Amino acid sequence: MTVVAPPLAAKAPSRWRLFWLLAAIILALSGLVAYRGDFSVEAVRQVVRLTAQISLMLFCTAFSASALAHRLPGPPTLFLRRHRRQIGLAVAFSHGVHAIALVVFSRIDPAQFNDATNTAMFVFGGLAYLFIIAMAATSFDRTAAWLGSRAWRILHTVGGYDIWLTFVIAEGKRAVHDVHYWPYVALLVAVMALRWWGGKARAAAR
Ligand code: HEM
Repeated sequence: MTVVAPPLAAKAPSRWRLFWLLAAIILALSGLVAYRGDFSVEAVRQVVRLTAQISLMLFCTAFSASALAHRLPGPPTLFLRRHRRQIGLAVAFSHGVHAIALVVFSRIDPAQFNDATNTAMFVFGGLAYLFIIAMAATSFDRTAAWLGSRAWRILHTVGGYDIWLTFVIAEGKRAVHDVHYWPYVALLVAVMALRWWGGKARAAAR
């Protein structure tokens, strides 16, 4: 009996459904928050915070997907590993909305925007944005092949750690004054521990 492998082309588009679903949810929630707050300064700031938190959840999922699938293989973890590229692109999408909301915030209330930001935010946040853009641009077969596997691995590893660190700084400075941010800091520490644990398993298997 001849076993015919399923055509790759039929499987790939279905993975993108997850990206489009996540993008639609991010847009709908951001629009709803802005609309319910009458597009006030506070509503726009809520969109900034909402997209930061959505990005955090998606980033933690993509950042730990391989380690999770390696240590705890099963349908849910294998699903996440298979879709980590689309989840990573959803992080970029959510951060795109974070940037748009920041531009709107700076236009409608420059004084509050200046109070809410500082040079360090622009330096660390700006560098993380450069990584997010470069990683998103090289998350397609053609652009990844153009970059080459070694450069791709370096970019996505260094970029992942830089984005993780930017989240630690952003959540950590808020956690000093507000216990509500502690779970986010704990989540960031947990995903780093998971990657280390997953990496040890891979090294032992070699
Ligand atoms: C130039 C780049 C960036 C600027 C100017 C910026 C600015 C801001 C501002 C003003 C807030 C506070 C909003 C408010 O309280 O009303 C904020 C929140 C936040 N940002 Fe960004 N951001 C930048 C990039 C980033 C990046 C790259 C990350 C993550 C990798 C990030 C993660 C966060 C987080 C976690 C919060 C806290 C959300 C919360 O309070 O729940 N930001 N950002």
